[in-house]
Amino acid sequence: MPEFQKNYTVRRVEHFEANIVRLSLDASDIAAVARPGQFVMVACGTGQDPLLRRPFSIHSRYPDGGIQLLLRVVGRGTAMLAETAVGQQISLVGPLGKGFGIPPDGEVCLVGGGIGCAPLFFLAQWLVEQGVFPLVLLGAGSAGEHAALVPGLRDLGCAVHVSTDDGSLGHHGFVTDLLPALSGKVQKVYACGPVPMMAAVARFCGDRIACEVSLETHMACGLGACLGCAIPIPGRTDAYRHVCKHGPVFQATEVVWP
Ligand SMILES: Cc1cc2nc3c(=O)[nH]c(=O)nc-3n(C[C@H](O)[C@H](O)[C@H](O)COP(=O)(O)OP(=O)(O)OC[C@H]3O[C@@H](n4cnc5c(N)ncnc54)[C@H](O)[C@@H]3O)c2cc1C
Ligand code: FES
Repeated sequence: MPEFQKNYTVRRVEHFEANIVRLSLDASDIAAVARPGQFVMVACGTGQDPLLRRPFSIHSRYPDGGIQLLLRVVGRGTAMLAETAVGQQISLVGPLGKGFGIPPDGEVCLVGGGIGCAPLFFLAQWLVEQGVFPLVLLGAGSAGEHAALVPGLRDLGCAVHVSTDDGSLGHHGFVTDLLPALSGKVQKVYACGPVPMMAAVARFCGDRIACEVSLETHMACGLGACLGCAIPIPGRTDAYRHVCKHGPVFQATEVVWP
């Protein structure tokens, strides 16, 4: 699959509650080949500061070309991206990594927590293009954090159930509290979000339901060169997988959960 390293023009910048920002970029070449779950390495500043690119999942693909990134400001790089102006150029490398696998016959469910939900929108777009309308369970701290995803997912035709930590929207509690309602109904679960959430999803699926998870680690290169994103392999002490190259999407059974 081709990878591109280019400057792309920012078409639109949207600010949401809880320091969440959506950037729309004219990266139609990346959009044409990307698979949901893949990511791009983004140069956040205009010069060499910060030196290292930051990884972001591809959040959505426009029908007319282009991609969107959905990010939460957590540090210097994301703060710089949040101040991007329409018309500015941003350097991306991608699409990188291994994306989500094809859906089985039958029902599928997407489970996301926090900003980890970002790749689920592109995944939902891709599934709907194949005639698969997933059930989507999303968790967040409070109602405002759902604003960037929930309306678009409902417009796609997905059934969406939400939870919030503060009870301001949907179920008051963890998104994983909603999992038991899936028993016997779904053939596959795709999950992204905090590790404890994905671990709970993996435990729920066990060996009864296929489950893929998208992992996030610190990444220096995103290309398999620095070996900084190593994760252990179940049952092995002599080898590692690398999230940027072998993932970020893994079968839940391939992950050593805390
Ligand atoms: C494959 C992949 C896809 C990602 N997709 C998204 C996305 O779609 N949207 C989004 O908002 N974020 C995403 N992230 C996380 C994003 O890369 C980090 O938030 C970003 O690099 C932080 O950069 P910064 O300069 O703002 O923060 P820094 O100043 O570098 O760090 C600020 C804080 O964030 C923590 N942090 C930084 N990177 C990570 C990380 N990878 N995992 C956990 N904690 C981290 C640091 O430890 C520190 O506490 C993704 C990460 C990976 C590996
Ligand atoms: S980030 Fe460098 S090898 Fe994965």
